[in-house]
Amino acid sequence: MGARSVLVLSLLCVWGAVRAEEGGHDQYKTPSFCGKLECPRYHVEQDFKSFELRVYEATQWVSTPVNLNVFGTGKAFRRLFKYITGSNSEGLKINMTVPVLVYLPINNPSANATMSFYLTPTLSPPKPLDPDVFLGNAGETRVYVKSFGGYAFDYEYAKQAKLLSEELLAHGIQFDDSAYERAGYNDPFTFFNRHNEVWYLAK
Ligand SMILES: *[C@@H]1O[C@H](CO)[C@@H](O)[C@H](O)[C@H]1NC(C)=O
Ligand SMILES: *[C@@H]1O[C@H](CO)[C@@H](O)[C@H](O)[C@H]1NC(C)=O
Repeated sequence: MGARSVLVLSLLCVWGAVRAEEGGHDQYKTPSFCGKLECPRYHVEQDFKSFELRVYEATQWVSTPVNLNVFGTGKAFRRLFKYITGSNSEGLKINMTVPVLVYLPINNPSANATMSFYLTPTLSPPKPLDPDVFLGNAGETRVYVKSFGGYAFDYEYAKQAKLLSEELLAHGIQFDDSAYERAGYNDPFTFFNRHNEVWYLAK
């Protein structure tokens, strides 16, 4: 190989490295399961095949308590939906996002289950008008995530959460077992490629 082609090659390498570096943040690819909706950014710290450890960037959320009966989740969803469709101090309409998170305390009757909608980082969230709706922030968060498809009903989420906790225990992994979260990504009218997750916070 002549000196000239070595030079061209090494220039190509430098160019490639610069491109890769530039790409780091701005080339972030929204996961396909978020569809056309915005969802929080994360990277996978470790892939365990049947589940993964994700690190989410800091996030903000709008939340409300959920009554865990037949109508509770629907009511909680409507409360948050009213907030994003203008029931807030500025009458601001906010785009629907994913996931819809439901936080479920385990063996702790005094803690409330809550439902949350993700708010994008560029939004300065207006104040909720409904006293049962509140804003919150989370710093960088590490979660163990197990994904599954189809229509997820309560028992399916519970089954997947139990499976995930067993897998974590089998790997000897420490996690916060005082609660798990359900993450839903689809409206009821999406029939195919539905995506659901259960999360445990890493310790
Ligand atoms: C809301 O969604 C629409 C359509 O996807 C998009 O054009 C618009 O920029 C979004 N607004 C905000 C504030 O993100
Ligand atoms: C649980 O929810 C009820 C009703 O919304 C509220 O009165 C109570 O303060 C909540 N408890 C906690 C621990 O947040």
